[in-house]
Amino acid sequence: MIKAAIMGYGTIGSGVAEILEENRDVIREKAGQEIRLKYVLDLRDFPDSPVADKIIHDFKQIEEDEEIRIVVEAMGGLNPAYPFVKACLLAGKHVATSNKALVAAHGTELLEIARQKRVNFFFEASVGGGIPIIRPLYRCLEGERIEEITGILNGTTNFILTKMDEEGETFEAALKEAQSRGYAERNPEADVEGYDTCRKIAILTAMAAGREVHFEDIYTEGITRITDTDFKYAKQMGTSIKLFGTSRIHDGRASAFVAPMMIDKANPLYSVNDVFNGILVKGNMLGPAMFYGSGAGKLPTASAVIADMIEASQNLDSHVPMGWSEKPLCVEPIETASFRYFVRIAGSWTDREADVNTYFGGVDVHVLEGLDEFAILTGRMQEGAFRRAAAAFDTAEQAEGRPGIRQMIRAEM
Ligand code: NDP
Ligand code: HSE
Repeated sequence: MIKAAIMGYGTIGSGVAEILEENRDVIREKAGQEIRLKYVLDLRDFPDSPVADKIIHDFKQIEEDEEIRIVVEAMGGLNPAYPFVKACLLAGKHVATSNKALVAAHGTELLEIARQKRVNFFFEASVGGGIPIIRPLYRCLEGERIEEITGILNGTTNFILTKMDEEGETFEAALKEAQSRGYAERNPEADVEGYDTCRKIAILTAMAAGREVHFEDIYTEGITRITDTDFKYAKQMGTSIKLFGTSRIHDGRASAFVAPMMIDKANPLYSVNDVFNGILVKGNMLGPAMFYGSGAGKLPTASAVIADMIEASQNLDSHVPMGWSEKPLCVEPIETASFRYFVRIAGSWTDREADVNTYFGGVDVHVLEGLDEFAILTGRMQEGAFRRAAAAFDTAEQAEGRPGIRQMIRAEM
């Protein structure tokens, strides 16, 4: 029998405890022996819960108990998650975490400690909730050169955008619902400002390239400035707006960014709605492969943690290499990436046609009945060139006393 501990009895930690009980037989069979929960560390007591007799408040009890071989970290954040996880690994315990902030900030160091201590630091649940994506990257796609990963990697924002798109719900109401369902981060700014997606694409890029990625280098834009008017245009154009985390890996460098993206029906990620995540991986031999499933939520995410606990049980005395080295990967600035651009401009198209063509070249034009504006879709341009054109256009408009550009959303179609 293997004794385990959970740190953090919130949405995910309680889900892990529930599955350990509910699926005890199948877990015993796969792990080779029973995984029994000994401690649940939390700040609070949970007197009415099934783990009431296992609740502890002192981390030292886990760290110093040699019986504990596997520790689940589901507290979130960096402090005390980082010092606690590090201490567990140094004490020779395997760790499974759902905490992408921890993996993105300290993955390189924690994996190295795990290697030295011949234990494992697993983090399948940190990206894509219940979708297997980390293990496929180090197990199934080992022989591939991964050229691109593009994903809808945040359940909360996808849930919000879907509600705004399909039900005309407000941003605030949709966010509240995502929170009540347990999808959102403790501080939902991490979801809606794109920080969570940024950590996740950094982790996927590190796994794909086998290099350390500094998430701070990844250009990150969230969904807070997306409006119902944008969705009205999108509907007319047969498109949708999704928050993408993208990484294109070439010649030992990555072009990586997080941003809302306008996409059309031809894009495989177009139909990924609600809390679902979709991750498109392109390998140089494989071509595209799509991973799809519940990107957040108690049981789907806890299921991924359980898979890590089983793999740890199967490798109690060995370290499973995950191909993430200490060598840093250079992340290119977004100015070098190319997109089409959906741009909303105040005023009427007939007055602006000549100027728009001067600054942006040939464009597709879209007009919505009853609005004092129009929208254009540019051809593919480098971000740096687009920014220069947009700034010059705005300056010219303002010189004429006109408001200029109201919105810009990058487009992939
Ligand atoms: P919750 O806030 O629901 O749970 C965290 C738990 O940890 C709370 O019970 C909290 O107690 C407890 N905790 C906080 N600090 C400490 C501490 N110092 N010592 C002991 N316990 C502590 O978060 P989630 O379960 O939603 O998320 C956990 C992690 O999993 C995060 O990293 C998140 O990003 C990640 N994740 C979450 C998903 C989801 O769908 N929710 C999906 C995938 C990953 P208290 O409430 O009293 O502060
Ligand atoms: N807040 C995250 C999301 C949890 O909504 O995707 C899953 O990582």
